[in-house]
Amino acid sequence: MQNDDIFTKTLFSVLSNMKKELPKQLNPLLPGYAFDVFLVSGMTPIEKGDVLDFMIDRPTGMKGFIINLTVKGKGKILSGADEFIVEPGDLLLFPPEAVHYYGRADDADSWYHRWVYFRPRAYWADWLKWPDEVQKIGRIRLANPQQVDEFDGLFLEIEEKHKEVRPMSEQLAMNLLERLLIRCYEITSLADNVPMDPRVLEACQILSSSLSIEISIEQLAEQVFLSPSRLAHLFREQVGVSIVRWREDQRIIRAKLLLQTTPMPVAVIGQQVGYDDQLYFSRVFKKRVGVSPSEYRKSASPL
Ligand code: FCB
Repeated sequence: MQNDDIFTKTLFSVLSNMKKELPKQLNPLLPGYAFDVFLVSGMTPIEKGDVLDFMIDRPTGMKGFIINLTVKGKGKILSGADEFIVEPGDLLLFPPEAVHYYGRADDADSWYHRWVYFRPRAYWADWLKWPDEVQKIGRIRLANPQQVDEFDGLFLEIEEKHKEVRPMSEQLAMNLLERLLIRCYEITSLADNVPMDPRVLEACQILSSSLSIEISIEQLAEQVFLSPSRLAHLFREQVGVSIVRWREDQRIIRAKLLLQTTPMPVAVIGQQVGYDDQLYFSRVFKKRVGVSPSEYRKSASPL
């Protein structure tokens, strides 16, 4: 009797703990989309009362950055004392830790905004510090209709390039995004700001040129003449993520490129980017990219 009880209880707890596989949300405009990609972009056309007319609410931010341009109508960002309104020509930059709470402004019939969600390259760090921040959200107001057209075109180009079916579409879209960020940097007076600390830049270079080996933070710090804790602090402050996280990003970016552009076996690619254990490599890859390395290779190879 006793045994039966234990059996029934165990079975019951296993069954009730089994996660129900929910269907994946494939539309980034709707709640539930995972954003487990390095770049995705689009336009959110919100009309009063329609299906997209809700507040986008991400209280803990996102893994990546978002740049957002209002092209029509009015948006309401944040709530309470920090609430502010955006209109055509307003650009916003949300870093990963910023709270997202926005939607159509109450007195507007619509809010159309273009956006790009992205995981930045390390050397973009200087271009990702924007002026006029409210709760970490940077803001730039474009100066004239010509600039608004120019930026509208840049956003559209990123979206279109990314959708093209060709092996390098993501790299080309990242390249266009880089241009967009440089233009943002150029049109504000930020271009006069102090650039990234050379020791942090050097650390990035050392890490990128030795992705296949495991350099410790202590060894890295020694090479750039800083203490490990000072380097870790400076790195996070200037790059926006920890050293370990950044290196993992670079490893996955490199692995994606090798999977796409070479016939090298998955295990060899894993080793080249620092994962000697293929299973572990596949696990990290899947966690970061959403699919396994071989699935990624299949989906990313030219038709
Ligand atoms: C969409 C939102 C857009 C932006 C992207 C990342 O669902 O409509 O504003 O936040 O997600």
